[in-house]
Amino acid sequence: MKLWDGRFSKSTDPMVDDFHSSIRFDSCMYKQDILGSMAHVKMLGKCGVISEEDASLIYKTLQEILSDIENGRVTFEIGCEDIHMNIEKILISRIGDVGKQLHTGRSRNDQVALDIRMYLKEETTQIKALLTDLLQVLIDMAENNLDVIMPGYTHLQRAQPVTFAHHLMAYVQMFLRDQERLTDCYQRMDIMPLGSGALAGTTYPLDRHAVAQELGFERITENSLDGVSDRDFVLELASALSIVMMHLSRFCEEIILWCSHEFSFIELDDAYSTGSSIMPQKKNPDVAELVRGKAGRVYGNLMALLTVMKGLPLAYNKDMQEDKEAIFDSVDTVKMCLPVFTKMVATMSIRRDNMLSAARGGFTNATDIADYLVKKGVPFRDAHAIVGRMVACCIEQEKNIEELGIGELKAFSEKIEMDVYEAISLETCVNERNLPGGPAIVSVKASIENARERLQQEEGN
Ligand code: ARG
Repeated sequence: MKLWDGRFSKSTDPMVDDFHSSIRFDSCMYKQDILGSMAHVKMLGKCGVISEEDASLIYKTLQEILSDIENGRVTFEIGCEDIHMNIEKILISRIGDVGKQLHTGRSRNDQVALDIRMYLKEETTQIKALLTDLLQVLIDMAENNLDVIMPGYTHLQRAQPVTFAHHLMAYVQMFLRDQERLTDCYQRMDIMPLGSGALAGTTYPLDRHAVAQELGFERITENSLDGVSDRDFVLELASALSIVMMHLSRFCEEIILWCSHEFSFIELDDAYSTGSSIMPQKKNPDVAELVRGKAGRVYGNLMALLTVMKGLPLAYNKDMQEDKEAIFDSVDTVKMCLPVFTKMVATMSIRRDNMLSAARGGFTNATDIADYLVKKGVPFRDAHAIVGRMVACCIEQEKNIEELGIGELKAFSEKIEMDVYEAISLETCVNERNLPGGPAIVSVKASIENARERLQQEEGN
């Protein structure tokens, strides 16, 4: 017996039952489904659509079903299609005809739209908390590494010196933006669709605002067709999560490079590394690689969702049932990646000497020598050419520029004096870049403070 089989003369082929059933992946929304039904039935009673007495029996029974599910006392049936029908059927099996009134003024179309919004609101809040944990670790780490000089790169070629703190704070900016994006898309999840019915609203005098308030929604949807067929909030979340994964993946890529013998900027803790089954010497950054790899599936989910929604006529279409596996997988993946990544970063050790010696090589202070000459009155283009010649000469002699004697330096330009050594030391290079947003210790300290403030603001959101 199906809850909808009145007009049918045959039962569905078991293959069809199996094919269109979503209970395997939507049962995780049992809590949202029940809480949504509880709010709906409470309102039905208050508005006089059903008797207060029946409403309270349904309400109470739903509460019991919720606790039974939580205690593992309920099994769902594939033949019952989805979580919504499973729960309604259990309700009816417990209280008979009274339970049959629950679905008054409601459709599974607005019901599923409600459930998924509620579910994703909670998940979004959890992901934001995980991002906060990561941000806190990164900010603390930056604070402890303000003076650790490392090369900054462009084209993965050593470019100019920065600090490890500055590098970490770049990721802090990314993850703060991720948090803001999640806060932003949360606002568009926070809209209550019940009352949209199947597509055209309902003739019952429902109090939509009361349901919204009961369930902690900020607003109600403004159009019944859109109310049941909007999945923009799913796409927005899938996209925000893809960007989170992109950031994690870039960071992972750097960690993988940094713990290679060639860089040796960091060492991962043994608890966050793995060995090789054949090569006894190996210590591999598998965790970082796997996080980098998992970005692929999260991007794939976004593409799947965009493609499912593309070309769907209004309003509900069964295609939309395909939204769940994709978005749940993105949510679960991000929730799995963030804490393990945070711990991996929190426990890695920094090899500051290697970072410094890498910054000493590669002529990372070349721009500063050109700037030194500019300050002494040489036009920048000429200064650029002079330093270019110095670099070529140093490459031949296998030396850094600061290892040339004053006489050798003067041969490139008469303007060079003894103060050049101080001017081009890596510490000067870093700390003279003290504009807001620069790598100087003062600038990074200020950006740490700003980041802490933004983080606090986000926690309030
Ligand atoms: N399981 C369905 C889904 O996830 C629920 C809505 C079904 N509505 C319908 N008219 N078949 O989309």
